[in-house]
Amino acid sequence: MSDHETPIFAAARQASEVLRGDAPALPRPTETRIITIANQKGGVGKTTSTVNLAAALAMRGLGVLVIDMDPQGNASTALAVDHREGTPSSYELLMWEQAAEDLMQKSPHAERLFCIPATIDLAGSEIELVGLDYRERRLAEVLDKDDLASLGIDYVFIDCPPSLGLLTVNAMVAAHEVLIPIQCEYYALEGVGQLLRNVELIQQHLNPSLDISTIMLTMYDGRTKLAEQVAGEVRNHFGDRVLKTVIPRSVKVSEAPGFGMTILQYDAGSRGALAYLDAARELNGRDPRFGGDEDQTPDADPDRDATVASAGDGESNVEDGR
Ligand SMILES: Nc1ncnc2c1ncn2[C@@H]1O[C@H](COP(=O)(O)OP(=O)(O)O)[C@@H](O)[C@H]1O
Ligand SMILES: [Mg+2]
Repeated sequence: MSDHETPIFAAARQASEVLRGDAPALPRPTETRIITIANQKGGVGKTTSTVNLAAALAMRGLGVLVIDMDPQGNASTALAVDHREGTPSSYELLMWEQAAEDLMQKSPHAERLFCIPATIDLAGSEIELVGLDYRERRLAEVLDKDDLASLGIDYVFIDCPPSLGLLTVNAMVAAHEVLIPIQCEYYALEGVGQLLRNVELIQQHLNPSLDISTIMLTMYDGRTKLAEQVAGEVRNHFGDRVLKTVIPRSVKVSEAPGFGMTILQYDAGSRGALAYLDAARELNGRDPRFGGDEDQTPDADPDRDATVASAGDGESNVEDGR
C-alpha cells in the first residue's frame, strides 16, 4: 500500500490486480504442500474454503490441484470442471485405475488451477474400499510428491465429505497438513473433539507426520456477540494455528458456486473475496515445516487489520443479512 492509499482503495487495487493477472506472484513453497480440509460436520465451509483458497493461490501464480473427495462434487462444480457420471475422477484415483496426472482437469478460473473431480461413482466407494488392500492409504500411495512437483503443483487441497469414514481417512493419510474450518455459530466446537481424536489415531497408526496446521474461522457475522465469542474460544484453544484472517458471512460467497465460480470470479472486490485472498496469503506464509511466519510474503501488509478482512469498511457491496 502506498502512503496515499486508503485501506479500501488498496483492497480494491489488490482485487483488480489479481483479476487482471498482474498481482505479484506469491513465493512458492519449497515442497508441494498437501492439505486436507476436514470437519465431519456438514455445512461448516469445507468446500467453500477449499475452492476459494485454491483459486486465490492459483490467481497469485501458484500451481494448485484440488482433489474432490466428496461424492456430492460441490468443489468440482465451483471449479467448473466436468463431473458427470462416468467422467474419470477421484474414484479412478482411489481404485488405482489412473494416475493423478491423467485425471486432472484444468479449471477455467486460473492458468494453473486443476481439479480431479468427484462423480457419483465415489458414493459407493466407502464400502468398496473396505475390501481392498491398503484401504486407508490408497490415496497416499497413488499421490507421488515428485510427480506433483514435476507438474508444477505447489498445493494439493483435498476436500472431504462430512464424515470420518474411509474417504476422509484416505485424505488424512495422504496429507501433511489438516486444515479445519470452524463455523462461527452455535455448536461450533461440537464434534471437534472427536475430529482431533481421529487425527491423533491417524498420527499414531497411519501417518505420523500429519499436522493440524491450520484452523480457519468461517461465516463470521461481526454483528453478533456469538461470533466474537466463538472466535475467542477457538483462538484460546488453538492459539497460533488459527489464521488471523476470518472469513465473513456473505451472501455472495454462497451464491458463487451456483454460477460455477469461486467468489474471486463472481465478485473479486467483495469482502468475501478479499478475505480469501488474505487467508491464502497467510496460509502460504505459514509453511509449518519451515517455522512459517506469515509476514515473509512480499506484499504482506502490516497495516491491514487481522480480524475480519475489510469488514464494515463501507465497501460498495451492501450485502448480507444472510
Ligand atoms: N462465508 C460464507 N458466507 C455465507 N455462506 C457461506 C459461507 N461459506 C460457506 N457458505 C455456504 O454455506 C453452505 C455450506 O458450505 P460448504 O462449503 O458447502 O460446507 P461443507 O463443505 O463443510 O459442507 C453452502 O451453501 C455455502 O455456500
Ligand atoms: Mg463440502
